[in-house]
Amino acid sequence: MESVVQKGGIMNKMTLTPPLQDDTLEVPIREHITAIIDDHMARLPNLEQLTSDEIRGIIARYAAVLEGNFIYWMTATYLAVQSEEAREIIIENLTEEVRDSHPAMLRKFAMAANAFPTDVDALAVGPELTNVRLFLGKLQGVQSLATMAFFESYIQRYMSYLADLAAARGSAERVYTDVHGVCDIEHSEGLFRAVSLEMVINPMRPGANLYEGVELLSTLLDSINHGSTEVASRWSA
Ligand SMILES: [Fe+2]
Repeated sequence: MESVVQKGGIMNKMTLTPPLQDDTLEVPIREHITAIIDDHMARLPNLEQLTSDEIRGIIARYAAVLEGNFIYWMTATYLAVQSEEAREIIIENLTEEVRDSHPAMLRKFAMAANAFPTDVDALAVGPELTNVRLFLGKLQGVQSLATMAFFESYIQRYMSYLADLAAARGSAERVYTDVHGVCDIEHSEGLFRAVSLEMVINPMRPGANLYEGVELLSTLLDSINHGSTEVASRWSA
């Protein structure tokens, strides 16, 4: 601190022209999130070892969560962010979701696999979904963006598995998985870039966990893919 005060020019420069973007964090954030996705992919249940009913459960829980919530999550993130780049990316995404009705696409996909969610499927992911909703309700721009960047990257890698699950249920319906399996590198990179832009414009509170939402969403994705160990006790309670 002393040396900064002595070098007045440097101090002024730091004060008057803050960095527009924290480039130093973009790569580690992306790497950390990619490692979490790698872990999810490595732990996906082996299709060969699943019963048809277990396969139905994964598709149904996925549909129970995503059909009614993805647009909600993106909208909540829009409300939380302040950077223009982040807003543009989100609006582009929401426009596509609504214009092409991705929820209708997902419902068609689940029904074709005879895996439309029941109350049991919806309740199996209930607490984990509530945690993600409550987190997004805190309207924390950086953390919400990191969460959506995580999901956008995850979904691209998950789609071929979801398509295989549907095929194992005898379905040939592929529109949802084809649309979401396209590797939109520009889109994902934009969201990761937006995280670091948002950090400067709308910084996190001191001590806040950048990955708060990523971790909660990660738990929700586990409950979709692996079921919830608490489900039995919830039902017997
Ligand atoms: Fe979508």
